[in-house]
Amino acid sequence: MLAEKRILLIIGGGIAAYKVLDLVRRLRERGARVRPVMTAAAKEFVTPLSVGALCADHVFTDLFDRHAEQDVGHIRLARETDLIVVAPATADLMAKLAQGLANDLASAVLLATTAPVLMAPAMNPRMWAHPATRRNHAQLQADGVTFVGPNTGEMAEAGEAGTGRMAEPMDIVEAIAARLAGGPLAGRHVLVTSGPTHEPIDPVRYIANRSSGAQGTALAAALRDLGARVTFVTGPAEVPAPAGVAVQRVETAVEMLAAVEAALPADAAVFAAAVADWRVANAAARKMKKDGSGRAPALEFAENPDILARVAQMRKGRPALVVGFAAETDDVIAHASAKLARKGCDWIVANDVSPATGIMGGAENAVTILSPDGAEAWPRLPKDEVARRLAAKIAAVLGAGK
Ligand code: C5P
Repeated sequence: MLAEKRILLIIGGGIAAYKVLDLVRRLRERGARVRPVMTAAAKEFVTPLSVGALCADHVFTDLFDRHAEQDVGHIRLARETDLIVVAPATADLMAKLAQGLANDLASAVLLATTAPVLMAPAMNPRMWAHPATRRNHAQLQADGVTFVGPNTGEMAEAGEAGTGRMAEPMDIVEAIAARLAGGPLAGRHVLVTSGPTHEPIDPVRYIANRSSGAQGTALAAALRDLGARVTFVTGPAEVPAPAGVAVQRVETAVEMLAAVEAALPADAAVFAAAVADWRVANAAARKMKKDGSGRAPALEFAENPDILARVAQMRKGRPALVVGFAAETDDVIAHASAKLARKGCDWIVANDVSPATGIMGGAENAVTILSPDGAEAWPRLPKDEVARRLAAKIAAVLGAGK
């Protein structure tokens, strides 16, 4: 599976670097060509001699090494590879790439590459849990970097335990194979709507809702990570759109429908947007002013198109899987089951958004997946974990050729 694959292995400076020797051996056994880059700190943990011997290649360490630069050069190192693996990915290497720093060979190669990047972090649990590392991890995921580990358990430091152990070499090999295979959704097109819509009242005022776009954004990123080509149709959301997806920005429900129709056909369509049910039918062309009479203007409403229902009920060219969301404040399951039947979609992802849950605009979500097969309640999880599970479930269905 890895035969003739070119892997650029960036070894960071951490105690887990010794496990990388085993990783190299296993990759080479499977036919991969492993070209090593070591940071200055990595050389304190394993020697370039061992790494070079196991890789049967030159060990690249210095951005300013004239011979190596003439021979291969950091730009060629970055380009002539199928995958870059960073193991152990230290807090420092993660921070550098998240910030776009390039002050040594490893970081310069990471910034110059267009190849996919897989990181196997390893660090002290407190460093992994630090808000700065949390931010960098989230940023790198949004930029399309995939991660394997870290695992939870005993640390090298006596008496320390927690999350921060590097994934085992065989797990890294599997993550490499999966990333090189392109993921289970390779070749599939998935459409995701996200965010709120803004419905104008006049040129400066609009009606909106509290959707941040966090769940739809996380889902688009998770589908991308499984190899899908993702079209992301988003209203004016708070969170930035993920990298590596085709972004279509819209404001109103009517514009969202047009963007969705233009993006079809798709293998699956997931409607995570919080679309306004109504638009102002008598929106003013000029800014409304107080006329001194004390009378408030009367807004008239017209019903917006139900984008999910339209796509779910398409006679021709319907995506194989159509998924809707149901944000409810009461009787969540009953309302969501009724919605499943009424809209004609395959699944409804139902959640309770009553203010006490803190879900709308928050970092976590507790969802129940409803399908004609029944209800599957998931525990309360971070929105990106909900996204990963949902993406995996979508991949399982599309993979089975539903
Ligand atoms: O009917 P309700 O708005 O509760 O349904 C929610 C689901 O329908 C969500 O998946 C939402 O994205 C979708 N929807 C839509 N177009 C609308 C209203 C809702 O696509 N006009």
